[in-house]
Amino acid sequence: MTTTPILVVGGTGKVGRRVASQLAGLGRSVRAASRSSDIRFDWNDQTTWDSALAGTSGVFIMPNDADDGGQLRAFTERARDAGVQRLVLLSAREYVEMGFTAAITREDIVRESGLDWTVLRPVWFAQNFSEEPFLSVGVDDGTVSISTGAGRHPFIDAEDIAAVAVAALTKDGHVGQIYELTGPRAITVGEAVEAISTASGRSIRFAPTPPDEYAEYLVSRGLYDKETALVVASLAEYIRDGHDEHLSDGVQRALGRQPREFADYVATTVASGTWTTP
Ligand SMILES: NC(=O)c1ccc[n+]([C@@H]2O[C@H](COP(=O)([O-])OP(=O)(O)OC[C@H]3O[C@@H](n4cnc5c(N)ncnc54)[C@H](OP(=O)(O)O)[C@@H]3O)[C@@H](O)[C@H]2O)c1
Repeated sequence: MTTTPILVVGGTGKVGRRVASQLAGLGRSVRAASRSSDIRFDWNDQTTWDSALAGTSGVFIMPNDADDGGQLRAFTERARDAGVQRLVLLSAREYVEMGFTAAITREDIVRESGLDWTVLRPVWFAQNFSEEPFLSVGVDDGTVSISTGAGRHPFIDAEDIAAVAVAALTKDGHVGQIYELTGPRAITVGEAVEAISTASGRSIRFAPTPPDEYAEYLVSRGLYDKETALVVASLAEYIRDGHDEHLSDGVQRALGRQPREFADYVATTVASGTWTTP
């Protein structure tokens, strides 16, 4: 396992590129793949799969959220045929708790693949405030509009998700584990925005959006199509109603340490220059 490459699907994304970077930092051979990467991988084009998989020992799977399971089942079969031993699937705690059938099916496919598997179920990433438009455009504009109200959420740092993925891909003891991943405390979006505003020195405010207007807001800002906007709005409602504030111990179980604080994420992002005054 030490010299053979590990395939990172979605290797340019928020989690995937951190997985690739942390693996490389350990001296591991990494094959970061996506539609725009040198190593091209497209969920919707099966002709790109075999060359990405060839010779790899493990795969980090950022799935296609639009896949009801057909793509992933075919992919795990190709992975097995290619000699892959280990799969780590990026899932989501909310999707499972809210009963999203496709996400549950995708987990089942990986668990029943016959390969060693680990499932990661993170909550919303802290990095959504800097790298995911439904929150980052509001931070950039100075007004973060969302319908989460006074609901609290334990945002997880994508660096921690990647660290758990890397442990599962490279170390023993994680096979057959489902890790629910949260940060160390639940905060409101308003508190998160205040922390970013204070640390960056920029004036940014939280603008609570009525729940029945949020999906329309996301569409009108050009952030999502109607169908995806309705899903995001349902997740925001889940947070607003307080269903998503409980902490999970996946980081502690997998890494033997506490997850990073939201304030650490904010400090790192300010230091990177991401939120410099426009
Ligand atoms: N954001 C959250 O708070 C959150 C919370 C829990 C779970 N999740 C889950 O995390 C996953 C997203 O991970 P992320 O946020 O790290 O990704 P991301 O930042 O949205 O980036 C998406 C990655 O996937 C690649 N990609 C997009 N379409 C593709 C396709 N058809 N075939 C192959 N690669 C494709 C992109 O690169 P190219 O454009 O070059 O292809 C990029 O590398 C989703 O499954 C989401 O449900 C997100």
